[in-house]
Parts: sequence; structure tokens; C-alpha cells
Amino acid sequence: MAVRHFLTLNDMTTSELELLLDHASRLRKEWREGKVRDSLKNRVLAMIFEKSSTRTRVSFEAGMTQLGGAALFLSPRDTQLGRGEPIEDSAIVISSMVDAVMIRTFAHDTVEKFAAASSKPVINALTDEYHPCQLIADMQTYREHRGSIRGATVAWIGDGNNMCHSYINAAEKFDFHLNVACPEGYEPDQAILDAHRDRVTVVRAPEEAARGAQLLVTDVWASMGQEDEQKAREKAFSSYQINPALMSLAEKDALFMHCLPAHRGEEISADMMEHSSSVVWHEAENRLHAQKALLEFLILNRLD
Ligand code: CP
Ligand code: NVA
Repeated sequence: MAVRHFLTLNDMTTSELELLLDHASRLRKEWREGKVRDSLKNRVLAMIFEKSSTRTRVSFEAGMTQLGGAALFLSPRDTQLGRGEPIEDSAIVISSMVDAVMIRTFAHDTVEKFAAASSKPVINALTDEYHPCQLIADMQTYREHRGSIRGATVAWIGDGNNMCHSYINAAEKFDFHLNVACPEGYEPDQAILDAHRDRVTVVRAPEEAARGAQLLVTDVWASMGQEDEQKAREKAFSSYQINPALMSLAEKDALFMHCLPAHRGEEISADMMEHSSSVVWHEAENRLHAQKALLEFLILNRLD
């Protein structure tokens, strides 16, 4: 069977994604009940991080250990990847020794090149263009609180970045509508918008995007790699904050999510993390469960 990768949500069908979320919720429940599971005994995940991480690293590493396997943290500083060994050569060698590879990097092209040469599943753990692992956790979280997201309106407030692109993919896969509110010049990628024209509406005013939505989501104004733009972005995004006033325009029981890390006083007001609509801690924990389900799917080809 051809090796499956998870570089974007488009690498799975809607029905596979739905089964994955069911399985992730089951894993969450079993883990919270203290049940031991060793489905990935003796399996190894290689984790290549070219950017910082808290949630992604901890969830993948803890997830592998909890399922009886192990994870290797590989930083380009300490491997030949950082000294110019070709990605393809690294992919052939690393994938010959482990059961799956997770990569967090800059250019999306890097994970595509790695995957093309890899004999084992490759997981995109964030590129400049997409962050699909966060989306499976977000979709699991929405379901656990409100049931199916089908037919809902989701409001993305802020930068048309990697998270926003993955929300556009999710709108297609999970059948919801995405309102994106962003300043001029910070829109999502035009090709991605064009491919999902009927799923996405781009507006300028956050209020317009939020009105009547069932879920409000945001992310940092300056992503990793854009540190030099922080000041300019603070200016451009100053009116793009999720706060209780914006939340009050959404549906009465709307949820608030953020992939974290959050910058209080910038994309969210200081009180949003603990706002009654906020499910951010549940969302963060679900990275663990959603990715354990993903690892079982990619390594064992099972979704139950
Ligand atoms: N949300 C997320 O991916 O967090 P980290 O950057 O801490 O991994
Ligand atoms: N858009 C953010 C997400 C962090 C999880 C970044 O790329 O830095």
C-alpha cells in the first residue's frame, strides 16, 4: 500500500477525518480514565523542528510515549540537515530507521520534498503555509462542545496566515462557511482562496465577520519568521482583536479558539482566555489526542 502523508487536510477524505475525530475523542476519554494503550509499542517518530514549539513537541512526544513508542527530537542545529545535507537524502535515511516523521519548518515545499523521498508517513507540524495538526484538534474540540460543525459559520479574525489557510481547507472538508476579517495586504493566499471561493468570504471589518458566527478564531499578528514585521503588524492589526464586545456579536453560545501561544493585549484582550466562550485549554490538550489518532492512522492504518 502506498505510504500516506499528512501535509494538509486534503490528504484525508472527509469520512476519514470524521472517523479520526471520533477516535481522538475516544482516546481522550480512555486516557483521562487512566487506561493504558500500547498500540505503537516499539514504534519511533522522528521530530524535525526548524522553528520553536511547546504544544506540538510535547503532544507528539508524550503521545508516542503514552502509546508505547518513542519520539526523537531532531534540531537542524545538531543534525546534518542544518549543514546542508539534501532534504531528499535525509528523508531516505531517516525514514529507513523510524516509523513516521514529523516536520515543523518554513517553506511548505520542504515537507513536500521530504515526503516525496520518504518511505514512511510524513506529518506537517506547521509550515509557513499550513498547520493541519492544529485543525484536527480544533475540529475535535468544536465537536466535543457543540456537535457537528456542518453548516456553521466560523469567523477568522486577523492574519491570512498558515492557520487561516488550514481553516479554509477545513471549511471545505467539514462543510462550514469561513468569514475572514483581515486588513488590506494581509489576505490569505489568492490561489487558496480561488480554490475555495464558495467557502470563504473575505471582509475588512471584524464585526462583519463575527456577526452570527458559531466560532471565533484568531492567531498571533506576527508568525514565526515574521519577527521583524512585529511593529508594522501591530499597527495594521490594531483593530483586529477578539474581545468580549466582538464576541457579543456572535451567536449566543459561540465558542472562542486560539491555537496559542496568545498575545494578550494584541489579537485578544486580556480577559478572553478565561471568557465563558473560551475553550482554548481544551483545544490545546486535544493536540495530544488528535495526533495520537493521526499517528495510529498513518502508522497502523487504523481509525478505531
Ligand atoms: N499551537 C501550536 O502549534 O503551538 P506550538 O507552537 O507551541 O507548538
Ligand atoms: N501562525 C503561527 C502559529 C503558531 C502555532 C506561527 O506560524 O507562528
